[in-house]
Amino acid sequence: SFAPRVFSGIQPSGNLTLGNYLGALRRWVEMQDEGIPTVYCVVDLHAITVWQDPEKLRNAIREVASAFLAIGLDPARSILFNQSQVSGHAELAWMFNCVARIGWMYRMTQFKDKTAGKNAENSSLGLLAYPSLMAADILLYHATHVPVGEDQKQHIELTRDIAAKFNHDYGVDFFPMTEPVIEGVATKVMSLRDGNKKMSKSDPSDMSRINLTDDADAIAAKIRKARTDPEPLPETVEGLAGRAEATNLVNIYAALAGTSAEAVVTEYAGQPFSVFKPALADLAVAHLGPITGQMQRYMADPAEIDRILGAGAEKAAAIADPILARTKEIIGL
Ligand code: ADP
Ligand code: NA
Repeated sequence: SFAPRVFSGIQPSGNLTLGNYLGALRRWVEMQDEGIPTVYCVVDLHAITVWQDPEKLRNAIREVASAFLAIGLDPARSILFNQSQVSGHAELAWMFNCVARIGWMYRMTQFKDKTAGKNAENSSLGLLAYPSLMAADILLYHATHVPVGEDQKQHIELTRDIAAKFNHDYGVDFFPMTEPVIEGVATKVMSLRDGNKKMSKSDPSDMSRINLTDDADAIAAKIRKARTDPEPLPETVEGLAGRAEATNLVNIYAALAGTSAEAVVTEYAGQPFSVFKPALADLAVAHLGPITGQMQRYMADPAEIDRILGAGAEKAAAIADPILARTKEIIGL
């Protein structure tokens, strides 16, 4: 059996969104505060599966790190670092590339989504192998729990498949069967422009998402212009069925207020969106305003961010190195 350890990561590929925050980051802080050992990573090697402007990438890494600190992750209680600074991630990923099967990668819905309408043969090999690197991120720390949004469920299942095949192929019980932690009303925050698409930092439309760096006016404008249907809020939560956009706004409200969709619908029963949207905007501003302010303060001192990430990488490597060494020994390397 394996001692509990939490791992999760986020890509430095643009603005962090309210979806990242409600679906994942907020839970990261709770798990830290519960006293479980927590390892949180800026996954820059994942970001380069599609071309990134080097200057922007360097800045985005620091921006994500500043968001970690701004939301309440504490370098004294959580290991906070940047993936490419711990070489074990790439090394273990290669070994997992030799354990995982090509067909497993082609079956990943994220790969299908990211190559939809494009020539998949012309995407990077890294984009296809991405889930194998993600398995390495997690298993390099023998992590038992991974707090993520719903879109990552299939990748965690694949991580278990890789761990199981490794254990079976080498006749060991070395890698744990990691559990995803997908909880709450906001495990899949949808785009503000399209209730069938998830809110994403890589969406070309800035109006589709709320960024952690948006100011109060931008947040209010985006929520005011969010797509809805012409009906008012229903009298009961069942009345949200088939209303993707309305459901999304209610879920965002519930997640921010720390309550249930039922409670929100009860409070706003029969009210038009012209009443509900400003209330939602106020709530979002009250939550995100302080985070945005803190992020700006941390971003003003990049040397301090780099120092925190560097110290975190040393702590991460101290856990990873013996696990990597033992993996090599098991394989015969
Ligand atoms: P993105 O998908 O925005 O590029 P990442 O792939 O880096 O972000 O995901 C970082 C974390 O945020 C993951 O745990 C992911 O499941 C979560 N996440 C991303 N988008 C959403 C969303 N719209 N709703 C809930 N969680 C999300
Ligand atoms: Na994602």
